[in-house]
Amino acid sequence: MQTIKGLFLKNIVLIGFMGVGKGTIARELIKHSEYIALDTDDLIESMENCKVKAIFEAEGEEYFRVLERKVAEWLQESVKNTLISTGGGFYKVKNLKKIGTVVLLDSPFESILRRIHEHPNAKKKLKKRPLLSDLKKAKMLYNERRPQYLELADIVIDVTDKSALECSQEILKKVKDND
Ligand code: S3P
Repeated sequence: MQTIKGLFLKNIVLIGFMGVGKGTIARELIKHSEYIALDTDDLIESMENCKVKAIFEAEGEEYFRVLERKVAEWLQESVKNTLISTGGGFYKVKNLKKIGTVVLLDSPFESILRRIHEHPNAKKKLKKRPLLSDLKKAKMLYNERRPQYLELADIVIDVTDKSALECSQEILKKVKDND
């Protein structure tokens, strides 16, 4: 099976905590590769015609997780050549590794918070993420999830104090070495 430019690429699945830079790095990476980009939160928002925050408010977190599982099934069945950025809790879906090479964007909690606060749209970034509204709980969630992220990851990228360009180049190199 061939694409126009080359062989079919195995999907890349970007996982990591809220605010670590999955979307930003995905946007940079596709500029330098043949991947198409998809984001699981965007897919859910278009499926439901509703923002993630509003889904949490109206239906609760468990309903949102059901939607994530639906998206995961669709990705596994139907998507190739794609760089998939995921919501911070998406890693919990069944068979994540069957969707593609799992790349963890890793950084300490404090650095992630700093990154969010230094962003020109910091307020918006915090507002749209219901699970970041209570920092103590968010830190607990980070501590609980990080070992699980590490266990699932085929590749780990420490993104702390690196530009999106540096991270995307590192990802492309490591994915190539991993295949
Ligand atoms: C969540 C992360 C969010 C979004 C939802 C739940 C989580 O995505 O999917 O608010 O459970 O960590 P980002 O990681 O893009 O913020």
